Amino acid sequence: MSGIEAAWSRLDAAAAGARDRRIAGLFETEPQRLAHLSLSAAGLDLDLSKQPWSLADLEVSLELARAGGVEEARARFFGGEAVNASEGRAALHMALRAPKGSDFKSQGEAVSPEVDAMRARMANFAGSVRSGKLTGISGKPFRSLVHIGIGGSDFGPRLVWEALRPLPPQIELHFVANVDPAEAALALEGLDPAETLVVVVSKTFTTQETMTNAVTARDWLRKALGTKADAQLVAVSAAPDVAHAFGVPEDQVFGFRDWVGGRYSVWSSVGLSCAIGLGAEVFEGLLAGAAAMDDHFLTAPLKANAPVLLALAHIFNRNGLGRSVRAVVPYAQRLHLLPNFLQQLEMESNGKRVTPQGQPVAHATAAAVFGDAGTNVQHAFFQLMHQGTDVVPVDFIAVREASEGDRAAQRILLANVIAQAEALLVGRTEADVRAELAAKGLPAAEIDTLAPQRTFPGDRPSAFILLDRLDPARLGALLALYEHKTFVEGVLWGINSFDQWGVELGKSLASRVLGELEGGPAGLHDPSTTALIAKLRG
Ligand code: F6P
Repeated sequence: MSGIEAAWSRLDAAAAGARDRRIAGLFETEPQRLAHLSLSAAGLDLDLSKQPWSLADLEVSLELARAGGVEEARARFFGGEAVNASEGRAALHMALRAPKGSDFKSQGEAVSPEVDAMRARMANFAGSVRSGKLTGISGKPFRSLVHIGIGGSDFGPRLVWEALRPLPPQIELHFVANVDPAEAALALEGLDPAETLVVVVSKTFTTQETMTNAVTARDWLRKALGTKADAQLVAVSAAPDVAHAFGVPEDQVFGFRDWVGGRYSVWSSVGLSCAIGLGAEVFEGLLAGAAAMDDHFLTAPLKANAPVLLALAHIFNRNGLGRSVRAVVPYAQRLHLLPNFLQQLEMESNGKRVTPQGQPVAHATAAAVFGDAGTNVQHAFFQLMHQGTDVVPVDFIAVREASEGDRAAQRILLANVIAQAEALLVGRTEADVRAELAAKGLPAAEIDTLAPQRTFPGDRPSAFILLDRLDPARLGALLALYEHKTFVEGVLWGINSFDQWGVELGKSLASRVLGELEGGPAGLHDPSTTALIAKLRG
């Protein structure tokens, strides 16, 4: 058996042991547990003590990380090697947020000077829009920005905007991702074209949804202001020529390189809308926070490394205990889009079933991720979390100081997140419930029926991430924490976290089906598909 497979076997054995004990009991047998499983990194506090692993299991997990070559892979990753083997590319989002004057190289080619120049150009452009130096063609300053993009060209910027937008904003951002015409209509409704900047973001500048919405927005501008309104178009793309051909003035096309993956691109010029809406200093603060997490990930020993430990905790649940779904619940309304962001980050990166060598993977890969903002979730899916038949590990994210509003409400919010994590951990025994019902004088038969229904099994794991404030730097660090956690998991699962072939089949079939819906010749399909096309044709 290879070293890595032996390490996996030890992890399986450790997890088997975890099935026979309760997490809460570990706090008694391991007095140092909380201290050992808590750490701070780049302004975030992480508590992994409510995870099912014992401290001995943690050692086994760290051994897996060593045997799986996490440190070597991390060096290749930061060194700009072609870690995205199927596309022959590096994945160097860390270069985008590194301090100015850094020395990142993509497959040997220096990229930091170009990154620094782009950051300066973005800051300059954002400043011009915000100061009113750059206006719409009728001389009005921009009050609205419509950001058009999907997937990685949408989730990150939308999340950053929602998390950090000022009240009230000087320039309001509106996002259009879905090809559903309703989203563009809702976004454009009530906007004054003369005061609206349209930013089209697409790495490829060919994505069907984005190009459809870009045409809609361009037509909307042109209808109101004539073709000169193309001056109010901005593009962000790794295919700048295609963007220019679309009508975007050359000096308003912002490029980025193919070593920036879509779901890792918010740090690049893809974040231009945020720099405009929030100000370049805020955007730089976001980058600085992510860079601090990069530095931590690169330099901290594995046993004190936040992304590594979070990945290992998730792997213990996913692989050791067979938990195929996990939840992410930010107790911060401004982070309500974090679960959507993580769905793409984790499921597009690590939803793979073969290795870069084309062999089936030896271990289960990404868990499905879902979530929403607390406390709303307590009135939605938390029933299942507490009493369902499956155990769903949760990541709780909480922010000590409210961004705005009532301190008393913030305290209630924090009380709830702490209580939910505690309730999941300790549960409530049937004996306790029976005693309470008996004290209320319920008849024995009723107690027999009710008590099991009101019992909470507990022993349901959670991770807790605490931010003092939701400021640009801590937000950047939080997103980078999850990026690197996803990377570590991909290394241990032996997959390429940076490609996404699984999105291609649906795209190409949609083109074929569209031809048929538009009246083209019928193709060969299964009977169900043929019937649907027949119903929706024309
Ligand atoms: O979902 C597939 C995908 O390629 C993502 O990886 C990417 O973020 C998204 O489509 C959008 O792609 P583009 O930026 O090229 O329009």
